[in-house]
Amino acid sequence: MQNVTVVDHPLITHKLTHLRKIETSSREFRELVKELSSLMAWEVTKNFPLKDIDIETPICQTTQKVLAEKDVVIVPILRAGLGMVEGFTNIIPKAKIGHIGLYRDPETLQAVEYYKKLPSDIAEREAIIVDPMLATGVSVIHTIRLLKEANCKNIKVVHILACPEGIKAVTTAYPEIPIFCAAIDDHLNEHSYIVPGLGDAGDRLFGTK
Ligand code: URA
Repeated sequence: MQNVTVVDHPLITHKLTHLRKIETSSREFRELVKELSSLMAWEVTKNFPLKDIDIETPICQTTQKVLAEKDVVIVPILRAGLGMVEGFTNIIPKAKIGHIGLYRDPETLQAVEYYKKLPSDIAEREAIIVDPMLATGVSVIHTIRLLKEANCKNIKVVHILACPEGIKAVTTAYPEIPIFCAAIDDHLNEHSYIVPGLGDAGDRLFGTK
C-alpha cells in the first residue's frame, strides 16, 4: 500500500494482542503502548543519517559512524497520543515535544482545535505525529495541515492500529506523508470505532471509562 508501512515483528504482534484484550488493565495498557511505541520507533528512525567520526579504541585509532544530528519533534495528538511519547523519547531522547489538542464536533464531525503548542524551530525539525488509532483520519489530517502551515517539511505519522477507511482518507489528502502502524484492522463501525480494535485508546490509557 502506498506510503503505508505495517511494522511487522513477532514482539509487536504479541504485545498488540494483549493490548486488545478487554481484561488488560490501564496500567498494563500504558506499559504496552509505551513498549509498542519504542519498537515502532526503530522502524520509523531506520533512515536516520549517519556520519563518520574519528575515535580511539583501547587498541587503535579508527573511523566509525554515529548519528548525524537530526532534530526531531514528536507531536502527540491529545489525549491518547500522550501514551506514545515516552516510547519514542526513550529511542530519540533529544526530541522536542509539540502538543495538539483536538476533539471531534459531534454535529459536523470535523476536528476542533483546543490546544496547540509547537517548538518555535519546528520548520527545521523532522516531525513524528503520534496517535494510537487511525480511525476516520480527521484528527491526523488536521494535524498534518497545522504542521505544514508551520512550514514543517518532513512529517511522518505513527499509529498503533489503523483501518482501511482512515488510511484512504489520509493518503488521499496527503499521499506524500509516510504512515507507520502495527496492524491494519478490518473496518470502522457506525460509531467510528475500529473493528476488532481495542476500544477507546484514551479511556483505556487513562482509566476514564
Ligand atoms: N479512537 C479510539 O480510541 N478507538 C477507536 O476504535 C477509534 C478511534
